[in-house]
Amino acid sequence: MEFFTTTAKPSRRAVDCVIVGVYTRNRLGRGAEDIDQASRGQLGKFLKSGDISAEAGAVTMLRDLPGVTARRVAVVGLGSSRQLGVRGFRKALTSVMNELKRTRVRQLLSTLGLEDVAGADPYYLARYTAETIGDSLYRFTEMKSKKAPPAMPLKKLGFAIASRGEAARYQRGAEHALAILKGKTLARDLGNLPPNVCTPTYLARKAQQMARSSKHLTTRVLNETEMKRLGMHTLLSVTAGTAEPARLIVMQYKGAGSDAPIVLVGKGVTFDSGGISLKPGPAMDEMKYDMCGAAGVIATMLTVVTLKLEVNLTVVVPAVENLPGSNATVPGDIVKSMSGQTVEILNTDAEGRLILCDALTYASRFKPAKIIDVATLTGACVIALGHHHTGVMTPHDELAEEILAAGRRADDRGWPLPLTEDYAEQLKSNFADFANIGGREGGAITAGCFLARFTEGMNWAHLDIAGTAWKSGAQKGATGRPVPMLTELVLGHAGELPRR
Ligand code: BES
Ligand code: MN
Ligand code: ZN
Repeated sequence: MEFFTTTAKPSRRAVDCVIVGVYTRNRLGRGAEDIDQASRGQLGKFLKSGDISAEAGAVTMLRDLPGVTARRVAVVGLGSSRQLGVRGFRKALTSVMNELKRTRVRQLLSTLGLEDVAGADPYYLARYTAETIGDSLYRFTEMKSKKAPPAMPLKKLGFAIASRGEAARYQRGAEHALAILKGKTLARDLGNLPPNVCTPTYLARKAQQMARSSKHLTTRVLNETEMKRLGMHTLLSVTAGTAEPARLIVMQYKGAGSDAPIVLVGKGVTFDSGGISLKPGPAMDEMKYDMCGAAGVIATMLTVVTLKLEVNLTVVVPAVENLPGSNATVPGDIVKSMSGQTVEILNTDAEGRLILCDALTYASRFKPAKIIDVATLTGACVIALGHHHTGVMTPHDELAEEILAAGRRADDRGWPLPLTEDYAEQLKSNFADFANIGGREGGAITAGCFLARFTEGMNWAHLDIAGTAWKSGAQKGATGRPVPMLTELVLGHAGELPRR
């Protein structure tokens, strides 16, 4: 996708389609005003007569309007002009794309950036626009035997801007969006791949391939023998039941000399059957998505490498498959973690924390400036926050605010859950230092508390993406979250974001 900006009248641009917005109470958006004038009041007339709906997300396609160079005008309802925010802005674009998807539109001009969108400046308007449009063009067809009909062949995306002075910020926003999309696409592909393809070995291979694309990036992959030598017995306890070999993937990107790195740790359970504490049958296939934390951090690395950011970023991915078997860990087993602490495994389905704790201990060797683990960790987080917000847990208030703010700006939001000592009591074990489960109450938080015991002295946060990493039902598929949030955080750390 190529980008251009234009201060010319949208009605005069020779593109396949122009997107304009309208508001309730018959108010035209800025782009719509121009189209209305050029067509001698046609647009306004349609709006007044009710042939065009201004309801948020309603799309009316107009063709061959007199006085308008573009073949098509997509008119999208933006609701009340006083309420347009980032969410509404993106929803409107998604609705337009749903109409355009099956067309042969190659060049698209959006005028929606001319509207007043609460909490967005030119840089972010370009980013939201390009990211939203790229998201709607995503498809996963790798596993289909018949060639799917081609997606919309969009080549050029134009932004109508108010003044030349905004052009550079638009361009930059669009370029960042493109890199974020590249990451999101990888995250979605890895998530959507079936568990018989996307194994720990497969993830490791992908990470190694990526390292070939940049001389600043190196990937190291540890096998089970090496992990045993390091004493990673909680991690290894999860992989005991499967024939599929486990991997510890370590990616290091050096773009900022000897600075302390940001470290991202991603849960890579390529299939979570629950192990001996077997999960119920319905929707078990969705546990192929239990590696979306891994996909998210590997994909964020791809985005950062693509943008050649001046930061140091390290990614650590414990990758395993959780299956029952004759060698599998059973409830009651006690294992020693790399940190030396012992864990009583009361439920083999609480496996994410078991692989993450050793990965976090391992990651402490990088002396991180910030360390964030990302995991589809608990069903309880889905109950607490639903599918809109990623759970954010950390004892460090400043890091919490940084992550939450990054999520808001990237429109990939998180919400804090408390991580106080009170909850940690639920992990008490009569036999080991602590257990791997803490009961139903506050399940997302007790999982966070478990990880906290392995992150002492580090500036650490935990993201539970169980509700946000994929969608179920008819729209089943990986979302690519939290790549935008993590990228935003890294961009901020690298000083790459416009000040506001
Ligand atoms: N991967 C699951 C969490 C999960 C379940 C995410 C459903 C999204 C949808 C995790 O490994 C798990 O099984 N967690 C258990 C923990 C429990 C045994 C303490 C859970 O949430 O039920
Ligand atoms: Mn599990
Ligand atoms: Zn799991």
